[in-house]
Amino acid sequence: MKPAVIFLCLFLSALHHCAAQSCVNDTFSGDKLYASCSSLPYLNASLHWNYHPSNGTVDVAYRALQTSDGWVAWAINPDGSGMIGANAFLAFPGSNGAVTVYTTQFSSYGVQPSDVKDENLTFAVYSRESEYSDGYYTIYATLELPRNDTKQNTVWQASTTFSDGVPYGHPSGDHYLSKTSLDFLTGQLE
Ligand SMILES: *[C@@H]1O[C@H](CO)[C@@H](O)[C@H](O)[C@H]1NC(C)=O
Ligand SMILES: *[C@@H]1O[C@H](CO)[C@@H](O)[C@H](O)[C@H]1NC(C)=O
Ligand SMILES: *[C@@H]1O[C@H](CO)[C@@H](O)[C@H](O)[C@H]1NC(C)=O
Ligand SMILES: *[C@@H]1O[C@H](CO)[C@@H](O)[C@H](O)[C@H]1NC(C)=O
Ligand SMILES: *[C@@H]1O[C@H](CO)[C@@H](O)[C@H](O)[C@H]1NC(C)=O
Repeated sequence: MKPAVIFLCLFLSALHHCAAQSCVNDTFSGDKLYASCSSLPYLNASLHWNYHPSNGTVDVAYRALQTSDGWVAWAINPDGSGMIGANAFLAFPGSNGAVTVYTTQFSSYGVQPSDVKDENLTFAVYSRESEYSDGYYTIYATLELPRNDTKQNTVWQASTTFSDGVPYGHPSGDHYLSKTSLDFLTGQLE
């Protein structure tokens, strides 16, 4: 963790979930390293990232507990919060059995299976891949932060339901609460 993040955690631990940063010792395939991480407050998930101020991009690794027959998603919502407007990375078992990652925009709660397709997001995505290992999905991506703003609304999801072979539907409860703003510079969640 960066010194700045540790400083914030010491003084703001009650507010910002810093006390239990169980993400710090996570390791990644291909010796990928991330300077920052945050344990997310719902759905047994964490986000790891490197922020590149020179070009306003981040490399992220989103890791979440899930059965191998389920799916996980992590998204930035550039102009809103929650699901409507989310620009998502979806990891799930593809038809060939290998882990597939789609980039998909969600424009309403009335999503049809045909809307859950691989498409461009509203911001640039330079790379994306996903893997499943030891009970966890990990989504790796490099993307441009919308408006070159380090503070973004993020949302994440997990479920085991599908329709027409694509992720479709999720439970309520914690699955409705799994969103937060995140500052990729300071690591602060809100
Ligand atoms: C991370 O690893 C260090 C060194 O092994 C250890 O001291 C620390 O307790 C670990 N942190 C967590 C949150 O597991
Ligand atoms: C997942 O998160 C729930 C709720 O925070 C917690 O009760 C449970 O122990 C976690 N499971 C694992 C395997 O970490
Ligand atoms: C952004 O900057 C980083 C760090 O300098 C560099 O590694 C990366 O290739 C750049 N990405 C793009 C898309 O230019
Ligand atoms: C993004 O913001 C950083 C920090 O303010 C700045 O240094 C950089 O030039 C900006 N990059 C782009 C591509 O606008
Ligand atoms: C997706 O973005 C790429 C790169 O900007 C572009 O070449 C391609 O035409 C876009 N695809 C669609 C379906 O808009």
